[in-house]
Amino acid sequence: MRTLTGSFHAYIVPAITSVGSAVPARTVTNKDLEAALATTDDWIRQRTGIERRHLASTEDKTGALAANAAQAALNASRLTAEELDAIIVATSTPDDAIVPTACQVQAALGASRAFAFDLAAACSGFVYACAMAGQWIKSGQVQHALVIGSETFSRLVNWSDRQTAILFGDGAGAVVLSAVPSSRDDWYCHLGADGSGKDLLFAPRGSYLQMKGREVFKFGVRVVTEELERLAAQSGLRLEEIDLFVLHQANQRIIEAVAQRLNLPPERLFSNIAHYGNTSAASIPIALAEAAQKGLLSPGSRVALVGFGAGLTWATCLLTYRPPGTE
Ligand code: COA
Repeated sequence: MRTLTGSFHAYIVPAITSVGSAVPARTVTNKDLEAALATTDDWIRQRTGIERRHLASTEDKTGALAANAAQAALNASRLTAEELDAIIVATSTPDDAIVPTACQVQAALGASRAFAFDLAAACSGFVYACAMAGQWIKSGQVQHALVIGSETFSRLVNWSDRQTAILFGDGAGAVVLSAVPSSRDDWYCHLGADGSGKDLLFAPRGSYLQMKGREVFKFGVRVVTEELERLAAQSGLRLEEIDLFVLHQANQRIIEAVAQRLNLPPERLFSNIAHYGNTSAASIPIALAEAAQKGLLSPGSRVALVGFGAGLTWATCLLTYRPPGTE
């Protein structure tokens, strides 16, 4: 394909064309938690990097947060809702057992042409969903996909368990992935799972989240490091050629340990965990929305997304950022 500027574009790749996020209005600081738990602001900051988080009040729902984030991403694009071909919501905390959250979003936006479904892969869910949407775009079946991560994990947390209660927050983030012409076939994704690790982090139906924190920590550092080494080995790109790494925001020390192991400058690993905590499948799209807003993504920026979490599951996608007018 030859573009108006005359450059030759041999490939169609999935690219992030717009981003959006939505969080509950209520914020809870570490100091607020001190009043209810045997913990301190200092301990939480030092061990996790978290300072505060947004928590759902009774009116805040996973579906409404997802729809608000999706609407923000759609508003930032040049698309109408009818131009969307697919809506995927990654969530482990849907409002209802039946009726996918994605169908609530479809109705709220009026995206009448889109197929819509939810995907549950815990904190890796958003990157799993990007991988699926990306493959459909590569195959030509989908032109524009809305991919959302939305969670209200606070409803799974035992608020008297200091180990987990300090970690999680609620919210939603969304991206539009579109088929764009490219001179390079930069698309890369890789997914993984290890069900033998299911006891490290789980929530039985009707019960609280349970976690073996230290083991999950070690798993996170190991799997993200391996995923980025694999990306470098298989994508044909050196890690230095990737502009921004947006890892699942689970613990600032996990992000720092990965940067150290791979010898990456810390500023290339985006972090906003201080203000959101771990929002599970929503953490990466919320981070992407904030990175774009802060001007850390420019047209053509290469972004590596790496999710990891319960299951155990993990997932990596390499995407280019092409905001409206630069596709
Ligand atoms: N406040 C104060 N002390 C706490 C505490 C809290 N909120 N939580 C645990 N402690 C205590 C422990 O009881 C322990 O005390 P002890 O030495 O007297 O036994 C001490 O702090 C160290 O506990 P440990 O669990 O070894 O701490 P840690 O450095 O591993 O930090 C986590 C705990 C949970 C913050 C950390 O393991 C972690 O972030 N793991 C990954 C969790 C995660 O990312 N989950 C989601 C993945 S998607």
